[in-house]
Amino acid sequence: MKILVTGGLGFIGSHTVVELQNKGYKVVIIDNCSNSSPDVLQGIQSITGKKPIFEQFDLREKEKVQNFFSRHDDIEGVIHFAASKAVGESVENPLLYYENNLSTLIYILQQLSYKKSANFIFSSSCTVYGQADELPITENAPVKPAESPYGNTKQIGEEIIRDTCKVTKNLKAISLRYFNPTGAHPSAEIGELPIGVPQNLIPFITQTAIGLREKLSVFGNDYPTSDGTCIRDYIHVVDLAKAHVVALQRLIDDKNTTNYEVFNVGTGTGSTVLEVIQSFEKVSGQKLNYQIVGRREGDITAAYADTTKANNELDWKAESKLDDSLSSAWKWEQKVRG
Ligand code: UD1
Repeated sequence: MKILVTGGLGFIGSHTVVELQNKGYKVVIIDNCSNSSPDVLQGIQSITGKKPIFEQFDLREKEKVQNFFSRHDDIEGVIHFAASKAVGESVENPLLYYENNLSTLIYILQQLSYKKSANFIFSSSCTVYGQADELPITENAPVKPAESPYGNTKQIGEEIIRDTCKVTKNLKAISLRYFNPTGAHPSAEIGELPIGVPQNLIPFITQTAIGLREKLSVFGNDYPTSDGTCIRDYIHVVDLAKAHVVALQRLIDDKNTTNYEVFNVGTGTGSTVLEVIQSFEKVSGQKLNYQIVGRREGDITAAYADTTKANNELDWKAESKLDDSLSSAWKWEQKVRG
């Protein structure tokens, strides 16, 4: 069965390609390599022994998208990762984000709507909940006004899919709302490759420990949490990748209850920034140089998932713990820069 993975050379995409191949799917990747490298193909192949088909082009080129689907009319499902994801950059350049994240989604959905049947998985984010009123966060929590154009592209993306599914009965879709993806493949053949200074916590920690950054700034210790630092739900990327495979399989097997569904993908456990640092120090045996500084604008106090729906309906549960995420991220960092 042939599956298209857009953005399949990226962080979450590449791990999902591995899990799809492990389950026997034939994978075709489209990636423009704007934030990834064709070298990732080698990493995937060394884990699974199988090289995915790869086409390098930009999904904003509508004719190329049309042409692709006419050449690959046997595609049974699409997992759509290709998107820009830097929150700060999206504030600086909103039109880039709206164009890149939404036009590509529309062009793909258009092609899928012409097919007799189609299965579609969308990369969404817990950012749609903003600071939820109740924790843990269920899928029924209201979507809050987006804090950034990036967050807004995820909200609008979900709405585009929902509205399309209402009138396109041959299309089945699932949005997965990820909490904080982290870690790397245990083989250290693939992992996260941030360009420039990382904005996310865990790559910043590992880059500090390897000597690339002088110290980590912890953004605020005056939040109403156990130690004053923010709480997030850090999910291992391999667990997250597996959630995509079971979600896709649910659609292929016609087990979905409606033709558009939404699932949280997290561990269900919240960790503070200081707990993440402690976990890193434990698994790496290194002291981390860090300093408490002021709050970062736009940060919410706490977010962690209620994963009951995914546990029950997808029969999926995160297996890795925070320590596993940090040790795999550290192993990967040492391989990349060591
Ligand atoms: C960020 C984005 C969010 C996006 C998510 C994707 C912002 C405001 N939010 O979420 O929209 O969906 O990434 O992964 O950018 N921290 C530090 N020092 C650092 C970096 C982070 O203390 O150098 C803290 C943050 O304050 C936060 C936690 O670590 O409490 C996690 O931060 P981060 O990895 O950036 O993720 P989010 O803020 O959850």
